[in-house]
Amino acid sequence: MFRSLCLLRISVTITLILADYARSFSTFQWPNPQLAYADKQLYEGSLGLLAQNCPPRENTTIPAQWLRIAYHDMSTHNVDDGTGGLDASIQYELDRPQNIGQGQLDSLNDFKAFNIIAPFFGSKYFTNSSGKKRGLLIAFPLVADIIALGAVFAVAGCGGPLIPLSAGRVDATEAGPATVPEPQQDLASHTEAFRRQGFTPTEMIGLVACGHTLGGVRQVDFPLVVTDAEDVLQTFDTTTNFDNAVVSEYLQNTTENILVVGPNVTTRSDFRIFSSDGNVTMQSFLSSDLFNETCGTLIGRMINTVPSGVTLTQPISEPFDYVVSEPLFSYRSGTFSVVTTLRVLGDNPDRTVTMLWADRQGSNCPTTGCTSPSTQTDEAFLTFIGNIQGLTVNRFLFNATINATTSISKFWFEVDEKDGSDPILVNNGGSGFVIEQDSLFIDNGRSEAVLVTFPTLEQYKQVVVAIRGDSSSSVSITTFDPVSNATTPPYLPTIITTNLQLDERNPSEGGFTFFTANVTDSVNFINITGNVGGTSYTQENFDMTVAAFPFVEISQ
Ligand code: HEM
Repeated sequence: MFRSLCLLRISVTITLILADYARSFSTFQWPNPQLAYADKQLYEGSLGLLAQNCPPRENTTIPAQWLRIAYHDMSTHNVDDGTGGLDASIQYELDRPQNIGQGQLDSLNDFKAFNIIAPFFGSKYFTNSSGKKRGLLIAFPLVADIIALGAVFAVAGCGGPLIPLSAGRVDATEAGPATVPEPQQDLASHTEAFRRQGFTPTEMIGLVACGHTLGGVRQVDFPLVVTDAEDVLQTFDTTTNFDNAVVSEYLQNTTENILVVGPNVTTRSDFRIFSSDGNVTMQSFLSSDLFNETCGTLIGRMINTVPSGVTLTQPISEPFDYVVSEPLFSYRSGTFSVVTTLRVLGDNPDRTVTMLWADRQGSNCPTTGCTSPSTQTDEAFLTFIGNIQGLTVNRFLFNATINATTSISKFWFEVDEKDGSDPILVNNGGSGFVIEQDSLFIDNGRSEAVLVTFPTLEQYKQVVVAIRGDSSSSVSITTFDPVSNATTPPYLPTIITTNLQLDERNPSEGGFTFFTANVTDSVNFINITGNVGGTSYTQENFDMTVAAFPFVEISQ
């Protein structure tokens, strides 16, 4: 009897632990622009559309071009002194013979065209009224993270492994050393080049085989390798996909890989590398599982090779369970409205999500209306990576009306799956999503998305900033626009600091004064600085990509 009671107790405990485990979920401590960026680009971004199903271009494929540029960019790494790595220095190195190829420029143009830019990292931070600054310093990552993202999409887009993505790379501002391996170099040089980049001789065999499962060698770029002028491009293997055909065809002596069997013996670099350990590694890659697994690991390490001092985020290999979006503020007639969304992983039509908040005094006022149900639920578009993983996400929209006097200090959510289980509290690890201050914000209701249709078509945003102070206050904004004016690399963002003008269309109200400026439509992050009677306030990394300004059309 005693024994069965014990067993019962043990089994109840295990069940409870398992239940607890089942209720645990993944999210990140908000705000974290880097993790938000990595999750958003990998699972909701548009760049993947160009790599999906391994589409052809220039006789090769877009993913082949993206994978090659990632390797060439990273090839500057030197393990001995920690310099170089995936840092977008390739933008300054395109005139080198080792980086020849239309694919490099095409790739950078792809990344530019999609206008995706990493936020200017550093957590969103504020100076509160006691002058305390919170958050991290801002770094400067742009193209490097996109090159890494491109490599992840490239491999998966052609049917290869899903490589976890980290963000946080920092762009170089000048060229690195000319250390990309070239086919005419001997095995010792290649072994040393890969050692310098952080790879053992065995890993060198793996990484080259993994890279050379995509694409091939273009005659115009390497006429001494592809000597037949009729051959526009010699593919490394007979399949377009990311698979181990490059290995099996090599081992079966059926390969037409020009770097293995090309007429110019000096440029048979793949042959020298593949056979350097008596084909032991290549034999092991006849297992496509091992090939895929090894490629995932090695290419993952390749894209995570960064100069020392650069810290990458935790790797993401599935969407976070819960992601909150930038809260959008608006003030009118004694009332704040706060618009935000919560993205929830997994489909459940019965699920309800409620937003709750605490006022400035920290009271939760549960009975007096500090809660708001979601006003809309949408299934969010997922990239093909999310589709491969069989995932769905729903986005719950909230438009909370908040008394401006008691205001809001933090908010959080209650997610009820309506399946008999306890509702889940999504409260940012217990702290809630903290609104540090309500004294300076972009007014989402007063700002406008403007479309001018005559005499010329023009689109811009009229940004209105509210500041708690009178007209002697001042406000300036720094806008980050990923659209570079340059027509050739390096593609640097356009960064402009503007002093805002008093907004005559929005007279002062409720202690707030409104300032305004027009910004280009493609601006995606804004830093705001305000000054009221000598006290300055800042808000960094306001995410313009989620701003929902009212649309206005001007046709005269
Ligand atoms: C000793 C090392 C290597 C040498 C000598 C080498 C050499 C070459 C050459 C000559 C080409 C032809 C480029 C053109 O025609 O424009 C090429 C293409 C390519 N390489 Fe490598 N490579 C090496 C390592 C790697 C590595 C480690 C990767 C990636 C993990 C990689 C990925 C690619 C890809 C994807 C292409 C095809 C590009 C396309 O079709 O547009 N290579 N490589």
